[in-house]
Amino acid sequence: MTALMEQGEICRPIGFVPTMGYLHQGHLSLVHRARQECRTVVVSIFVNPTQFGVNEDFDSYPRDLSRDLEMLEPMGVDIVFCPPVREMYPDGYQTFVDVEQLAQILCGARRPGHFRGVTTVVLKLVNIVKADLMYMGEKDFQQCVVLETMLRELNQACRIIRCPIVREADGLAMSSRNVYLSPEDRQKASCLHQAIQLAQRLCRDGKDKADEVIPVLTELILSRGGQIDYIAIVDHVSLQPVDVVDTRSRLLLAVRFGKTRLIDNGAIA
Ligand SMILES: Nc1ncnc2c1ncn2[C@@H]1O[C@H](COP(=O)(O)OP(=O)(O)O)[C@@H](O)[C@H]1O
Ligand SMILES: [Mg+2]
Repeated sequence: MTALMEQGEICRPIGFVPTMGYLHQGHLSLVHRARQECRTVVVSIFVNPTQFGVNEDFDSYPRDLSRDLEMLEPMGVDIVFCPPVREMYPDGYQTFVDVEQLAQILCGARRPGHFRGVTTVVLKLVNIVKADLMYMGEKDFQQCVVLETMLRELNQACRIIRCPIVREADGLAMSSRNVYLSPEDRQKASCLHQAIQLAQRLCRDGKDKADEVIPVLTELILSRGGQIDYIAIVDHVSLQPVDVVDTRSRLLLAVRFGKTRLIDNGAIA
């Protein structure tokens, strides 16, 4: 830490990349951007128990700290912060942060308590790290909106820098959870990105009504064996459904293949 201090001053801005580890190129793109823009770069690796539901995958979530540290080694990160669970949540822990409406729709409706865990851990981490800028992926689009709201409404100085979705060659958005997919489901999962591209084509061809577009996407995903959690076209700020697609709209998808739940999203106009 002392190397980062100049006469007691921490070198700002401090860029922060919170992750749950099992890193992939999506995470590294955030670290790379933070390294370009910030004097100090902090990455956290913490599988946050409070954002997992009781029947979710906290115990089986993929973890490989030594591999993660190897991947970060060439990235020029100043600090990797890997707190133990009991340090973040000591016995008797009882303080949580709730963003109300935005956290209850879409993924929040499907995963009760998920965003409460996310907002709580991120506020704690931002306070610990004293982050100025937090680098987050647009793959988790609702998470970006919820966290921006939380930081603004709780008068935090930290700002979120949204970074584009990094994809595999076939278009599947990179995610630590992709390792859960069977080879067959891994192939089928490329239909999420295909659905986004199809929606873009439909809109280009003048089919810009949400209730025309969504059934076509539904059919594509069902035909590839996906079980749909939701397909929504929403305003990119309020996350409320829109009737007509425009440049302020975002297509959001949550689909299960087997037991694996995947999310993806894109602008379509
Ligand atoms: N494919 C991706 N492209 C860009 N950013 C990503 C991607 N996947 C995850 N991220 C970002 O990395 C950060 C940590 O996410 P995390 O939950 O650890 O990974 P994952 O969502 O892959 O399981 C979040 O800001 C998330 O949006
Ligand atoms: Mg994630």
